[in-house]
Formats: sequence, C-alpha cells, structure tokens
Amino acid sequence: MKFFLDTANIENLKQALDWGLCDGVTTNPSLIAKEGNKDYKKHLKKICKLVKAPVSAEVIAEKSDAMVEEARILAALDDNIVVKIPATFEGLKAVKTLTAEKIRTNVTLIFSPSQALLAAKAGATYVSPFVGRLDDISVSGMDLIRDILTIFSNYMLDTEVIVASVRHPQHVVESALLGADVVTLPLDVLKKLMSHPLTDSGIEKFLSDWNKLMKG
Ligand code: E4P
Repeated sequence: MKFFLDTANIENLKQALDWGLCDGVTTNPSLIAKEGNKDYKKHLKKICKLVKAPVSAEVIAEKSDAMVEEARILAALDDNIVVKIPATFEGLKAVKTLTAEKIRTNVTLIFSPSQALLAAKAGATYVSPFVGRLDDISVSGMDLIRDILTIFSNYMLDTEVIVASVRHPQHVVESALLGADVVTLPLDVLKKLMSHPLTDSGIEKFLSDWNKLMKG
C-alpha cells in the first residue's frame, strides 16, 4: 500500500521523506490556504521539487471547460502533478478530456460507490473517498472503501483508490486489510502508526537493566 502525505506543509513532507514514508502528496485548497502562500503554483513547484512522486493539486473552477483550462496549467508545472477534480458531472466531463490528453486525474470528494464507479468509467487515475467525513456523520467510511474495491475488482477497473480524510491509525490498518491502493494521511496520523506505549516502556526497561549491569 502506498502512503501519500495529505499536506502542503514543507516541513511535514521533509519529515515523512526522511522516514522513507512518502510515496506521494495530496493537497486541496484548504491545505494550501493553511500554508498562507497565495502563490499557489510556486508552492506546488516547491513541493514537486522535494517529492519526486505524484502530487495532487485541485482545480477551483466548477465548469468543465474552466476545469480543463486550469488542469492544463497545473499539469504543466511538473510531470508529477495529478489534477484533482470534484465528483460532479462537470468534473466527469473534464476527466474525460484530460484523460484523452494523458493528464492524470484524482476525482475527489467521493462519498458513494456510484460516484467512484462513474469517475472510473470517465478514466480517472485515482478516486479519493473521504472516510473521516463520512464517519463524522455516522456513516461507515470503511464500508465505502470495501464497496468501491469490490466494484473495481468486479470490472477490472485500473483506477486506484486513495483512502482520504484519514483521522486515525485504524483507518490505515483497515484500508490495508481491504487492499486499498493508497492512503493519504496527515503527519500526526503517520506518527501514531509507529507509536506504542509497550515499545517505549520496553526500551526504557532494556536500557535501565543494561545500565545496572554496567554500573555493577
Ligand atoms: C484528500 O485528498 C483530502 O485532501 C483530505 O484527505 C481531506 O481530509 P479532511 O476531511 O480531514 O479535510
């Protein structure tokens, strides 16, 4: 399973790269706004210089023609840019055009299996179902992942599933058990994946026993 970092923060990306745990990046307008850099394109270029792997960048336009125009500009920034398009009929039209132009797309804001199926039929490279936002409204995000993976496997669709809106390690473990292609996660969830109190207390005990032996 690939691990993408769901951030536009350069320091967070450097940390994940240092651990060898950054197979790509996803951003969205909210994550870019959080970094306070109004020069969206410059910021994306900075990310692409650092991470030599797929970097998703989202369009702001809502009409298909305008999305395509924006997508072409984003895709021209770097070979690794994947254009994020919202799951709407306008978005699907844009995905069809962009796929024909060999521009990779990530259909985002997916909340139902039918949206994922339509996005895959349009030729999306990735779909991003948002599990955390569904859990927030008491709908199982992981059930959605299971359904999408079953549908894609039934029809041998090539579109990869990026589990998005990940809030905790269990989302990652369940995604891996289900065989999701990618999880995109914030750095704090990535940190939690490795942390365990028994590992910490085990190290402490080994060190204290070792020090006692050396002093004795
Ligand atoms: C993914 O592509 C999205 O940027 C992200 O996972 C959304 O997560 P949120 O629901 O925590 O905002």
